[in-house]
Amino acid sequence: MIHNITKMCTKDALFSMISEPAAETGNKVTVVGVGAVGMACAFSILSQGISNDVCLVDVVTDKVMGEMMDLQHGSLFMNNPKITASSDYSITAGSKLCIITAGVRQKEGESRLNLVQRNTDVLKFIIPNLIKYSPDTMLLVVSNPCDILTYVAWKLSGLPKHRVFGSGTNLDTSRFRFLISQRLGISPTSVHGWIIGEHGDSSVPVWSGVNVAGVRLKEVNPAIGTENDPEKWKQIHQDVIAAAYEVIKLKGYTSWAIGLSVASITQTILKNGNNVHALSTYVKGEHGLEHEVFLSLPVVLGEIGISHIVTQKLNSSEHEAILKSATVMAEVQKDISL
Ligand SMILES: NC(=O)c1ccc[n+]([C@@H]2O[C@H](COP(=O)([O-])OP(=O)(O)OC[C@H]3O[C@@H](n4cnc5c(N)ncnc54)[C@H](O)[C@@H]3O)[C@@H](O)[C@H]2O)c1
Repeated sequence: MIHNITKMCTKDALFSMISEPAAETGNKVTVVGVGAVGMACAFSILSQGISNDVCLVDVVTDKVMGEMMDLQHGSLFMNNPKITASSDYSITAGSKLCIITAGVRQKEGESRLNLVQRNTDVLKFIIPNLIKYSPDTMLLVVSNPCDILTYVAWKLSGLPKHRVFGSGTNLDTSRFRFLISQRLGISPTSVHGWIIGEHGDSSVPVWSGVNVAGVRLKEVNPAIGTENDPEKWKQIHQDVIAAAYEVIKLKGYTSWAIGLSVASITQTILKNGNNVHALSTYVKGEHGLEHEVFLSLPVVLGEIGISHIVTQKLNSSEHEAILKSATVMAEVQKDISL
């Protein structure tokens, strides 16, 4: 058959349509803020094929369009994902998960808590817009101070608490397991241990549970994590706390590890993995915590969001430390103007 090219375009001539392509992918992920962290998240999610529908939003239009184009040009190597971008929130419609990385970051030597009101004001604009276009979404807050901003996002969104969480100590836990694994000469995946509490200076290492193949390091070295430990394992937690400060001092920001951490959380949600992650969640009532704050605890995560919190058997010093973390959060929260 010879096609009349004056009447029929190449595409029509090439294909005979059987059905309309699907309009929605069902795994749409929006990343708000295309700075170092947002782009590391988007790149990790796309390059691992975790979602094939990623939407980027930023207030700086040129930057967000440039980042979109740069990623799109790699589509050949990423299984042809849909990548969209805008500073207009209508583009985010139908997102299953919205990842918030927008806002200011720490300067050299600055604490995360110092960013609180500036980034709260950023969220006041972002959250209502996300909810307007994706009322069924889940919110994953990455911007710092992560725990406080997760509380702010929860308040501003009106979403149920199982659908609002922060990346929290998922990253601190990764740093912890990496540093322990280096000392033991094994892979981080074979070291089990958790950092809970604040994503920041008052984070809590659960030394009582650190184990390799079910052998608790505390049974081998009863002083582990304490001042009396001749092997000074406690230094590892100090190094976890100092990690972001150190990287920021050296390269100006942190990006790759948080991007991979967020991609892993996203994978659990989109694949309904029911994996346990250390995420910032509403903790009132857990471990005797009385403040209405968000802190990281191990949670079971799946396609509906957080389904359970794992009740860890904390020893008295760990319990005391998490209470202290909650008090720090409540103190900062009381001065926020929402
Ligand atoms: N939770 C964690 O583990 C973790 C790790 C690293 C960084 N962070 C935090 O992530 C945040 C981002 O860090 P970064 O290094 O990417 O910063 P960055 O300065 O590189 O990027 C921030 C981006 O946010 C955008 N932005 C600002 N206001 C906005 C708004 N109202 N709407 C949309 N976009 C807006 C900016 O244009 C910019 O592109 C910081 O708060 C940082 O402290 C968190």
